[in-house]
Amino acid sequence: MSDSTASWYTLRWTDDAVMMLDQRQLPEQEIYLALTSVEDIAVAIEDLVVRGAPAIGCAAAMGIARAAVTSDASTVGALLADLDRAKERLAKTRPTAVNLFWALERMAALWTSTAQGGNVEVIRSTLVREAQTIHDDDIEICRGIGRVGLDVVPEGGRILTHCNAGGLATAGYGTALGVVRAAAEAGRNIRVLADETRPYLQGARLTAWELARDKVPVTVITDNMAGHMMATGEVDLVVVGADRIAANGDVANKIGTYGVAVLAHAHNIPFYVAAPVSTLDFQTPTGDGIPIEERSRDEVAILGNRTLVPPGVAVRHPAFDITPARLVSGIITERGLCRAPYETTLSLAAR
Ligand code: MRU
Repeated sequence: MSDSTASWYTLRWTDDAVMMLDQRQLPEQEIYLALTSVEDIAVAIEDLVVRGAPAIGCAAAMGIARAAVTSDASTVGALLADLDRAKERLAKTRPTAVNLFWALERMAALWTSTAQGGNVEVIRSTLVREAQTIHDDDIEICRGIGRVGLDVVPEGGRILTHCNAGGLATAGYGTALGVVRAAAEAGRNIRVLADETRPYLQGARLTAWELARDKVPVTVITDNMAGHMMATGEVDLVVVGADRIAANGDVANKIGTYGVAVLAHAHNIPFYVAAPVSTLDFQTPTGDGIPIEERSRDEVAILGNRTLVPPGVAVRHPAFDITPARLVSGIITERGLCRAPYETTLSLAAR
């Protein structure tokens, strides 16, 4: 199941390249790209070859490790200058997913401490090991989220999810879909309703692909069907992922998540967010401070080879929205299930 034993993987370190499943091509084609330079990896993050907050963090860490092994610097000073440049480039790729900055800071802290008394080869090998550790730990963290999430999934539960917070959005197993997988592994007869997730269709293309691959029952609906499904009693709970969670529990996630949360609230359906502790951002007090990425017009205005919007007509494309903490029934982390007041429970989980 999307870990080392699975028939597919999201991204993987090899001696020669970072291998990534090209998510732009799913579900039609499974193509792995071999990325060798920092620039290749930065563009892959920007273009959504790899996406989802934890997977972006892993990709960024591997980008730094590639910078270290490809740098021709022979002095510590020159190597650190190359690493700083790589960090600056990777930090510009996507603004909302805080795991990107978490991973870059973790790598930077390590090269700073290793530089004292170290040599270039020690710094290189330490950064490669750290990137692999961040990746491998992420799978275990997702399994932990899954175990904690079991508490909120009833036998036979019908779970609605938005976007893709699965193995494809992490090093493997997933956050929201980690909860789904854990419930399926525990023998609960669950079913998933996947919002298609306009405009980039992460739900229809990716969530459906990986759940079908793991033989978890999944049905795709268009985003505007969620209210009807809730009103007709076809949803027991909602579980989504997060790109960043502010100190007060406000959640940034894929555009449309806020609407799902409002609908769930109106229908008295529990709305859970599943995320690792590395997605918590205590520097940002509320959701108002979370930067929202604006992506291209074309991702909204063009579908396949069809133009949906008349030329010259304005299009907006905020890629994320903020769900206020008051609409969140609980935040499922690998360290436990946090309930309001989130200021207290999230900081306890992060300790
Ligand atoms: O634009 P994307 O596809 O990177 O957005 C991904 C999401 O919004 C996910 O729900 C989030 O990153 C959580 S992934 C475990």
